Amino acid sequence: VESSWDESMATGNEMIDEQHQGVVKLLDELRASHLSSEARGRRALEDLMDFTLTHFVAEEVLMEQVAYPADRAAHMIEHHNEFKAYARLRVIEFRTGNMAAVLPLAAYLHDWLTVHEFGVDRLLADWIRARQPSSSGA
Ligand SMILES: [Fe+2]
Ligand SMILES: [Fe+2]
Repeated sequence: VESSWDESMATGNEMIDEQHQGVVKLLDELRASHLSSEARGRRALEDLMDFTLTHFVAEEVLMEQVAYPADRAAHMIEHHNEFKAYARLRVIEFRTGNMAAVLPLAAYLHDWLTVHEFGVDRLLADWIRARQPSSSGA
């Protein structure tokens, strides 16, 4: 599956961007998979959810490590929780039903992740970079 990742999605934080590339790759797999089989589609959806939840934990640990201000951290966590609540429902739906709605779901997830998640994460990446001017070259 060809990746639809592009540099405009980058936050500039190496760990975050590496994981976001993984998220985008799994989104691509989800879109491609529904054409082949329901089993593959369900697996792709569950893989995407698992990977994304692991990624959220990594960011939440990173925020603690860099002592990200509490209000900004709370905003990020609230944002992650919103996705988790939505994603749980969808996974249950697809486990028990059919895969017909997978394309609109993939489109929704793509927008949510690339616009909102990556956008909120860019604030964190910028904040970290502003405190480590020597490592950014800026
Ligand atoms: Fe993220
Ligand atoms: Fe995030």
